Amino acid sequence: MVSQTITVITGASRGLGRAAAQRLASVDGQRVVATARNRADLEPLQSELQLAGHRIECRQLDVTDDNSVDALRQWLSEHFGRVDALINNAAISIDRYSTSLLELPLDTLRATLETNLVGVLRVTQALVPLMRASRAGRVVNLSSGMGQLSDMNAGVPAYRISKTAVNALTRILATEMAGTRIKVNSVCPGWCRTDLGGPDAPRTPEEGIDTVVWLATLPDDGPSGGFFRDRQPIPW
Ligand SMILES: NC(=O)c1ccc[n+]([C@@H]2O[C@H](COP(=O)([O-])OP(=O)(O)OC[C@H]3O[C@@H](n4cnc5c(N)ncnc54)[C@H](OP(=O)(O)O)[C@@H]3O)[C@@H](O)[C@H]2O)c1
Repeated sequence: MVSQTITVITGASRGLGRAAAQRLASVDGQRVVATARNRADLEPLQSELQLAGHRIECRQLDVTDDNSVDALRQWLSEHFGRVDALINNAAISIDRYSTSLLELPLDTLRATLETNLVGVLRVTQALVPLMRASRAGRVVNLSSGMGQLSDMNAGVPAYRISKTAVNALTRILATEMAGTRIKVNSVCPGWCRTDLGGPDAPRTPEEGIDTVVWLATLPDDGPSGGFFRDRQPIPW
């Protein structure tokens, strides 16, 4: 039985997922399972970490594909018998700031929800049962200020709706997990310079993942069912 903390990250090929994998892989006692749609996209990260003396597992995972998710679940079960932390990071943003809700193509909404909501749920349903064997399960859902109902605005409507829905998922699962050792939280990383965030964003990916890593490694008396930015609770 592996004594390290097994942390699975979706969408680790670039952006915040990659930064989180990089950060966690250098933490003592962590065994990071970085996943990506194309496994080959993880090779630069793997080489870089290996050179620095860190170990990382790289696996294929498309969150929209049942078979891919099931293959990962099976591999984790055979290799480790459990998962300790899951960072649901993978997402897409394919509508525009100028897109009006009244003109939003329904296929754009469907595709966005398929990755950002159904994908998160598919991976969560597959891997959270493996957390029951963990000393301390942690689920971290990458949400966004764009999904905050308390500050809801217009622009990128499909993305906004998907992130509000992810927050609902966080609340429902946290309630279902109350009384277990599993903690479930949403995080807004702030506006970060990634392919999704664009070049004008004020934060680096490394700054953005600080709260993500904090939530993935919460102590037993840490919060559950919350929405955080910069390690502080924010309104839903
Ligand atoms: N950047 C920001 O300012 C910001 C702000 C608030 C919230 N967020 C959230 O933070 C998370 C990471 O965003 P980011 O800025 O790092 O985005 P990004 O640079 O566009 O990276 C997105 C990642 O998701 C992966 N992905 C997309 N569809 C996938 C699928 N079907 N299966 C598996 N992986 C898939 C991508 O993989 P491929 O390389 O295969 O496409 C990529 O690794 C997202 O949930 C985003 O909504 C970001």
